[in-house]
Amino acid sequence: MALYSSLLFAAFLGCGLAEFNVVTTRLCREVDASACTVNEVRIDPCVNSRLCHLKKGKNAKVSFDFTPQFSTTKLKTGLFGLKNGAEIPFDALYNADACTLTSCPTEAGKTQTLDFSLHIGKKLPTGNFEFKWKLWNEDNESQMCCYRTNVRLV
Ligand SMILES: *[C@@H]1O[C@H](CO)[C@@H](O)[C@H](O)[C@H]1NC(C)=O
Repeated sequence: MALYSSLLFAAFLGCGLAEFNVVTTRLCREVDASACTVNEVRIDPCVNSRLCHLKKGKNAKVSFDFTPQFSTTKLKTGLFGLKNGAEIPFDALYNADACTLTSCPTEAGKTQTLDFSLHIGKKLPTGNFEFKWKLWNEDNESQMCCYRTNVRLV
């Protein structure tokens, strides 16, 4: 139901605000989902919300709302490409200080937003691509927010 309504919402947004879309995401299997909820992920530009088409050599803005169930001043983040089940880290966002991208300290139960402008490298392969975004407490890595989503690199 939540998935369906967010798809509808994305379709609605698609009519008015041409290129800013809510994308569908999946949970990360290995992460305890009770530690954090990722409420909504937006990618701009994203013409088709079912599968955003991102242009290589350009920037894309990724923004997401999350509700951690933990408090920390040491929030770390990382972005990974997934290939045959393996995680390939992106140099641009590897073990990075997330407090520069969202407010710190986090507060348990309080929703906040993280924004990141991502450069899509020209050397990345063209085609469908799955990525995983992680956000965790450096003092306790079982306190982690995590989601996966698909995009198409063109
Ligand atoms: C780490 O986080 C988990 C999940 O919130 C919690 O159950 C555990 O007690 C924490 N460990 C420490 C050492 O604080």
